[in-house]
Amino acid sequence: MSQKLIYEGKAKKIFETEHANELMMEFKDSLTAFNAQKKGQFQGKGKLNCLISTHIFKVLSANGISHHWIKTENDNQMIVQKTQIIPLEVVVRNVLAGSLAKKVGREEGQRLSCPLVEFYYKDDALNDPFVSEPQIIEFKWATETQLEKMKKMALEINQILVPHFIKAGLDIIDFKVEFGINSSREIILADEISPDCMRLWDVKTKEKFDKDRFRRDLGNVEEAYQSVYERLEGIL
Ligand code: TMP
Ligand code: ASP
Repeated sequence: MSQKLIYEGKAKKIFETEHANELMMEFKDSLTAFNAQKKGQFQGKGKLNCLISTHIFKVLSANGISHHWIKTENDNQMIVQKTQIIPLEVVVRNVLAGSLAKKVGREEGQRLSCPLVEFYYKDDALNDPFVSEPQIIEFKWATETQLEKMKKMALEINQILVPHFIKAGLDIIDFKVEFGINSSREIILADEISPDCMRLWDVKTKEKFDKDRFRRDLGNVEEAYQSVYERLEGIL
């Protein structure tokens, strides 16, 4: 297989494959936070995120969500449809935490009356700022129709994943997804869904099982990611 590296991000590498419409996404062992100001890694992190993401893509497939995942090849590599990534991070929040808790000056943990969808412009140099829907349309990052589609899909993904994770004893506090446009001009879920881009709290103890363990120096990052994988596989 030809393996031309076409992009390297903070947690993944993207390679071309011999199929023009397919890419290979490789999950790295590195871990970054605060726009890569904080860096870490653990051996096997790429593999765990690849396996967790694979599990989630399969659950979403079974529930009719279109996504870029085609197959997982090795422990830390998956073949995905080539898409043009829409430069927005789409965040869904069920419980107040993270940057929103900070913004409104409240404690984390309050359940929101309904899930909130927010958009952030993907630009490291600008620190991925929060952007409004009129701003997204004005600057042509997405059309109004694409925005509506992304909101609908993000909420559907939330509706599918929340009960699924509850079965694993984990509460989805919030998560981030990205979308791309494929060769059929369809908007599909892209990137990954893993503890790097979610907040997961134990249903009973409220203990954190996601990247906040790294961001906030809580320790046992590897054990938390491993536990998410084992809990998810345990419910299949
Ligand atoms: P926030 O509360 O920091 O805005 O994060 C909301 C959700 O988005 C949380 O689950 C973590 C995820 N996220 C990313 O995946 N990438 C990022 O760069 C940031 C800031 C958050
Ligand atoms: N994803 C961002 C980074 O890698 C920020 C974060 O997740 O906290 O720096």
